[in-house]
Amino acid sequence: MGLPAIGSKRIHLPSVDSTNKYAAELLEREELAHGTVILADEQTAGEGQRGRPWISTPGSDLTLSVVLVPPDMSAAKQFGIAQLAALAIKETVEAEDVQGVQVKWPNDVLVEDRKIAGVLIANELVGQQLARSVVGIGLNVNSSGNEQGPPATSISMELLRRVDRDALLERLLAAMEHRWQLLIADPGRLHAEYLAALWGRGRWMPFTLDGAPYRARLVELDDHGRLLVEDENGSVSAYGMDRLRHAPR
Ligand code: BTN
Repeated sequence: MGLPAIGSKRIHLPSVDSTNKYAAELLEREELAHGTVILADEQTAGEGQRGRPWISTPGSDLTLSVVLVPPDMSAAKQFGIAQLAALAIKETVEAEDVQGVQVKWPNDVLVEDRKIAGVLIANELVGQQLARSVVGIGLNVNSSGNEQGPPATSISMELLRRVDRDALLERLLAAMEHRWQLLIADPGRLHAEYLAALWGRGRWMPFTLDGAPYRARLVELDDHGRLLVEDENGSVSAYGMDRLRHAPR
């Protein structure tokens, strides 16, 4: 029997500290089926990347966590989870007619230079296998971008109209299911799609390498999700997100 589709099971909470934290706590007590979605109207202590808070406007934005339980996925493929999430968000935002949507490595979604969504992923590895992944998504929908970034934006700021949040959620979950199937069947295509959408490709930009300022040109992304960057001496190296980061804006 195949896996249930993403969103087949949903837990809708009016208010919670963080959907990622809620998912982690629930998973300590019980198994959750693949595709379970934990959705909150309000997060009182939303978590962002690098220990930063994620602020969203209650009832206006989308804050959710999706539990993925791959039956047989090598840990080497784990960057595919980040790719599927970022590309599903991009597709969802573009379907509203927002132009200039790109993905910023490893898993932000931008409109031009303005951040519209962030993804926080907790992967659980067992040996060389990816046992489970909790994919936390914060998408700015009808708010004023929540001063995330800066600069930040939301779908309604881009379009100057309100957006149906429920319809957006359905589109997002369907897009995630589609990209999940692609990750299983044709990860090369998912990678190519991510590369085509990658923000800053070919440009010189500020990074941090092992915490120190580092200027480099973003050249490419390898199959493991490592960025290939060229330094000022012309040598090209591959770095993962454990060492390389975009410099804070
Ligand atoms: C980032 O810093 O860009 C990542 C933001 C991730 C926010 C989402 S909102 C739903 C889920 N629950 C959390 O506490 N964080 C993620």
